[in-house]
Amino acid sequence: MKSAIIGGTGVTSFPSLQLKEQFVSTTYGDVIVYVRQTDDSIVFMQRHGVGRNKVPPHLINYKANIEAMRMLKVQQAVAMYAVGSISSLVLPGCYGLIDQFIDLSGGGRDATFYTGSDQKVRHIPMIEPYSKRLRLKLFQEFSLRGKQVPMKGTYICTNGPRLETPAEISMFRKFGADYVGMTAATETILANEAEIDFAGIAFSVNWAAGLDAEGFSFVEEETLTKMVSELLDVSLKVLS
Ligand code: HPA
Repeated sequence: MKSAIIGGTGVTSFPSLQLKEQFVSTTYGDVIVYVRQTDDSIVFMQRHGVGRNKVPPHLINYKANIEAMRMLKVQQAVAMYAVGSISSLVLPGCYGLIDQFIDLSGGGRDATFYTGSDQKVRHIPMIEPYSKRLRLKLFQEFSLRGKQVPMKGTYICTNGPRLETPAEISMFRKFGADYVGMTAATETILANEAEIDFAGIAFSVNWAAGLDAEGFSFVEEETLTKMVSELLDVSLKVLS
């Protein structure tokens, strides 16, 4: 089975793996992915693009990214999302699986393949946007490593790129959100439309605005690097 790992903030490379760069030209734009050299069953993608100039969350070509997966015949994927913690479900420096999202990105993003033009109109269900099978496998892999990672958590997706006001975070908390980020909803919708079995891991890099009595800060670079590298290992294990 062909699998993909989608990395975001903090994922600058995929160390310890022999990868070859592959250029994929889709109807929606061009995408660069990295394919494992030993066998091409695993594809790595950097959501914000490659190189120094990262594409901000509201300008990412999500449709091209997911279309590239579809063209490469990817059937299952694990995506990582840097988030701010809203509830105490997942504290900064820790991980949580996502089982629900609230999309507050505002409707301005190109977040469907079913545009009604050359593609027919389809309203895909969003009862279970994240694969139960993959979430269970991820939960088990984290457990083996001595990490208790919640199987469920609600991600609220803003448009960004600005961060939130404390008043917004206070409202999101009342909505029942556990994490806030700027990318997961759009990517998840398209992955579901592309019929990819999809899981999302949230990794918290800060307390959301207004929740840290000491002000606003992100985890240290070293912590971020460690988290991302562990998530790559876990994802690879689960998808292999
Ligand atoms: N808000 C939105 N997106 C984020 C945050 C945040 O606090 N942290 C990481 N991504």
